[in-house]
Amino acid sequence: MSENPVCALFGIQYPLVMGGITPKPELGAAVSNAGGLGCIEGIAPLETMREQIRTFRELSDKPFSINFPMAMGSPDQVQERAKIVIEEKVPVVITSAGSPKILTGMLKEHGIIVAHVVAGISHANKAAEAGVDAIIAEPTESGGYRGVNEISMMVLIPAVRRALPNLPLIAAGTVADRAGMVAVMALGADGVQLGTRLVATQEAKNSYPEHVNKLILAADDTSTMSADGRIRPRISKPEFAEAVLGTKSKRTQMGQVAALIDEIVTVDQVFAELFQGGEQLAEDVAARMKQLSQVGQTT
Ligand SMILES: Cc1cc2nc3c(=O)[nH]c(=O)nc-3n(C[C@H](O)[C@H](O)[C@H](O)COP(=O)(O)O)c2cc1C
Repeated sequence: MSENPVCALFGIQYPLVMGGITPKPELGAAVSNAGGLGCIEGIAPLETMREQIRTFRELSDKPFSINFPMAMGSPDQVQERAKIVIEEKVPVVITSAGSPKILTGMLKEHGIIVAHVVAGISHANKAAEAGVDAIIAEPTESGGYRGVNEISMMVLIPAVRRALPNLPLIAAGTVADRAGMVAVMALGADGVQLGTRLVATQEAKNSYPEHVNKLILAADDTSTMSADGRIRPRISKPEFAEAVLGTKSKRTQMGQVAALIDEIVTVDQVFAELFQGGEQLAEDVAARMKQLSQVGQTT
């Protein structure tokens, strides 16, 4: 059987990509050391970002990415950041929340692998035209940047797969267990970008204020909403924060998947939950489908 396209592209063991969820390098290093693609959110001042890259390399010698949310700076500022990535020979850049045209050509000229986060088919086509190496498709359920059209995972992944059958496709979010992993692969994804599940890990505990995990662990299916604005990340609802924390003023970015997370675990445990038993689950589904496909064929 041929190698998973996401693993082959990034040189990793599991097709698990960390989203740009923290500029601190510790969590990303843990993800890369566990066999996924760790990430540094590229939002710190320029020289601090360079230090974060160097610290990452002290913690892990495995592949990793820098995430650039393009909306958080002018094209010139984003290009200044990209120059550091080139100087530091970062292997992968994930661009999000903006045009893939700004950086893709420049980064690829320097041998950097580029993936772009999209929230719909037209965005995916633009990213492909810009020459990205992989598409990360982010549906409305996720804790990330979802655009204005609120497209669900069940529609977004098959639609992008049909539009771009040959590009590695990573489903962003909504996954916290092996059932989610099997489901997105059945939809046509080659791998998954994780956000909320990785926030609630032991290795992330110094990266977020205390209220963040309190909200994630307490969340149910009704606890999130879309933030206002152009890129509209999914966030905790104020009335939910008041019930949990006693104040409406604190909030966190988090996906609907928070409803499935009730324990702070290690990154290794997250990976084990996503893959161990997945093959058996997929076989059970295959057996159920086989039985259904035979309905009407018996005499
Ligand atoms: C706390 C938090 C911060 C995030 N910040 C960014 C960011 O700066 N850039 C980005 O591309 N995505 C960001 N995201 C989205 C993640 O990269 C990821 O795509 C998303 O969380 C996946 O959905 P999930 O939370 O359901 O797993 C953030 C998500 C969370 C939970």
